[in-house]
Amino acid sequence: MKIIKSKFEGVYWIENGKRRIATVNLVPGHMLFDEQIIKDKNKEYRIWNPYRSKWAAAIVKGIKEFPLKKGHKVLYLGAASGQSASHISDIVGEEGKVFCVDISQRVMRDLIFVCEKRKNMIPILADASNPSEYDFIGEVDFIFQDVAMPNQVEILTKNAKKFLKDSGYAMIAIKARSIDVSAKPSEIFLRIENELSKEFKIIDKKRLEPYEMDHIVFLMKKIK
Ligand SMILES: C[S@@+](CC[C@H](N)C(=O)[O-])C[C@H]1O[C@@H](n2cnc3c(N)ncnc32)[C@H](O)[C@@H]1O
Repeated sequence: MKIIKSKFEGVYWIENGKRRIATVNLVPGHMLFDEQIIKDKNKEYRIWNPYRSKWAAAIVKGIKEFPLKKGHKVLYLGAASGQSASHISDIVGEEGKVFCVDISQRVMRDLIFVCEKRKNMIPILADASNPSEYDFIGEVDFIFQDVAMPNQVEILTKNAKKFLKDSGYAMIAIKARSIDVSAKPSEIFLRIENELSKEFKIIDKKRLEPYEMDHIVFLMKKIK
């Protein structure tokens, strides 16, 4: 088995017949969900499954940049039970923070369980359309957004205006069906790209098939 640093900070390629990505477990000995762990030289590598995380799918599909660093403060909108957010927590490490916002009380119970073990993850039960509900978080380096709502661009823009640093980045995952059930995904994605480019500089975009059908991820930088 070979473990190779990827070009992205905190992300590794694990090669043993298959080629998969992983992050180093911030809480060794503690396993989340039914994930696969690879142990090597006192480190635990958590396989980051592209079928379960859109950010992992974007990396495996070859996104140009993944500009997340140790110590970054991250706002995660639509954190659900915290599976993807826990890999972001591995990458930013103990010096970083992941503010995990979700509107659903049902997922919050699982999210709180994950955050209890990971001191850099903060669960926030709130509506991402109303960022004044979590004003206390202050400035962030990165926003991930995966709320699967028709007004996703508006929600991201509001949050970026309030919290994102001038040099900050944002990633948004778009599911065509959440925006419009009747139009073609490619038309919806073009429409969304035009809306996003009024507010952000688009750095790259990746369709997520075969991991997620009719989904796309955009990586963007804030326009000052
Ligand atoms: C597709 S799931 C996110 C999955 C997650 N990114 C992952 O990979 O583990 C979408 C989540 O967005 C949440 N959500 C939907 N509308 C929201 C809103 N207005 N504010 C906050 N969360 C919202 C839902 O409750 C749901 O948990």
